[in-house]
Amino acid sequence: MAAFVASRVAGSVVSSSTIFEGSVCGRHFVMVDFRWEDGGGSLSKQVHPTRIQGGYRRNNHHSMATPPQRGLLGATRSTETNYARCSKDADFVKIDPDRREAVAASRGGGGKDSSVGAPGGGQDLAPAAATTVRRRITPSELKVRVRRRAPAAVGNGVDVWLLDTEIRQSLASMRSYSEKGFSVGAAVSGTVPRPPGFSSRRWSIQARIGDFAADQDAYVDALLTLLERHPAQMILPGHDGSIEALRRRRLELERYTALPLADEGALDIAISKERTLALARHLGISVPEGIVASTEDDVRAAAGQIGLPVVIKPVQSWVQTSRSGVRLCSGVATTVDELAAVSRELLDGGNRVIVQEWLSGPREAVTLFYAGGQCLARFAQVSHRERPLLGGTSVFYESIPLLPELVLPAEALVRAMNLEGCAVVEFRRDRAGKPILMEVNPRMAASVALPIACGVDFPLLTFHWATGRPLPPPVASYVVGRRLRWLAGDIRHLMSAVKHPTHLESGPRSKTLATFATDFFRRPAFFDPFDPRDPFPALVELRDVVGSHLWSLIGTPRRPMPRVSSWE
Ligand SMILES: Nc1ncnc2c1ncn2[C@@H]1O[C@H](COP(=O)(O)OP(=O)(O)OP(=O)(O)O)[C@@H](O)[C@H]1O
Ligand SMILES: [Mg+2]
Repeated sequence: MAAFVASRVAGSVVSSSTIFEGSVCGRHFVMVDFRWEDGGGSLSKQVHPTRIQGGYRRNNHHSMATPPQRGLLGATRSTETNYARCSKDADFVKIDPDRREAVAASRGGGGKDSSVGAPGGGQDLAPAAATTVRRRITPSELKVRVRRRAPAAVGNGVDVWLLDTEIRQSLASMRSYSEKGFSVGAAVSGTVPRPPGFSSRRWSIQARIGDFAADQDAYVDALLTLLERHPAQMILPGHDGSIEALRRRRLELERYTALPLADEGALDIAISKERTLALARHLGISVPEGIVASTEDDVRAAAGQIGLPVVIKPVQSWVQTSRSGVRLCSGVATTVDELAAVSRELLDGGNRVIVQEWLSGPREAVTLFYAGGQCLARFAQVSHRERPLLGGTSVFYESIPLLPELVLPAEALVRAMNLEGCAVVEFRRDRAGKPILMEVNPRMAASVALPIACGVDFPLLTFHWATGRPLPPPVASYVVGRRLRWLAGDIRHLMSAVKHPTHLESGPRSKTLATFATDFFRRPAFFDPFDPRDPFPALVELRDVVGSHLWSLIGTPRRPMPRVSSWE
């Protein structure tokens, strides 16, 4: 038990001076004391991992007192008071450092740790990880703007830093948090010229951080500097690439703030489609017929075995080379030439791919919020259109009831992975109408505005979970049949479908155009991200998308168009 708790704590605070195990008034507790240096000062931090449904969860309560105070595992503030009251009865023993080291080693070090600003005491608990020395951040790597009349503020900090404001789920989360009275920081990575989220009136501080795709370490260094200047209770990444960058130096970041990510072991399975599908198969969940391939010859042989058309997808969507990263997208091949072209592109750089049968049925997804062995929220949706045509983000989607054939396998999979936090399990039906597992994304979906609008607030749950606040009771029901249409994305879908009428996922041009037009009346929807109380992000985005398409129809644009595709 002590080893288990030590592992949890070791994974979240990097270094601890002492871990005690013992009993208070006959109840069993584990207690952690630790401190670290921060900007020359000495801080102490209490960790109160809270017991939830038989599991333990990190729960960061920050305390700025010297000398360090003690936190009790399994304690709430009232049990802490109990501890003070009956401390005479307390009987604690120090956990053997060898056991702690063994636990830290068994976690594989987790990520890189910085020697700069490392905790003053208890180096014995630090995982044996490589050391990253933080570089000085140049002004071009971190640009910050503080809004004069900020909607809310916590000193010079915020409640939440949203890391990928250029993607849709970040704007939806920003609005959700700000409506609950939380102050929000909006950050983008790289040089996205005009992220629509920056036009929102809901952020208090805005930041541009270096590009995680170009240099993960520089990105995290800039983020750490940002957190020193403008602290936050939680940072929320939304992009596969930023999640990967944060994971590499997770322990270092968790000294500053809460990171709403599942355990490393669970994330490892979720980001690998090969491992996810293997686990699903083991659990008896239907998966597409597929073969893993690492050369063009393998791909050809696999396609020969499965039969064209096939889908070719990277084993892992975010691929990191020595320093830079790229997000790869699945492709569909109906001919041998297409097979060669798609596989060449995806295999480039030594990646492996999965060759799968192509499924033609409806695309459904279940979003779950799982923590402490309990599913706290479930939400199901169907995607009517996507962009890109295959494997893209939903542009027109609708809430559906919690169908057992979707929810049961989704929950079984998330439980088996122990994938805590918000996760999206995607399915596609085969010709017989049977749902087949596609993948699991260990993050919020781009379409998270839909569950929020239907009454399932995943961003709020995420904040409560990550910061150790009491979790609300499981969500009982939500609005079914509500549709959201991301108009800018739908216009882009229309352009692609009209341009590629023979693509497996599109149809005749006349039908595509008619469906696009009549859906305004036949299947009325709310427009994402349009919000009359915060209209500018949608207007900026629409102007950019319509503008870029108009220019492309007229001829070469006079000036480079903003990269609005970053929404995807
Ligand atoms: N074999 C397949 N047959 C038909 N459609 C597929 C197939 N594989 C994937 N898709 C479509 O592509 C979507 C994305 O699945 P994919 O496995 O390519 O993940 P991804 O590239 O990581 O996407 P995401 O952006 O959702 O993370 C699926 O939800 C499904 O609509
Ligand atoms: Mg994915």
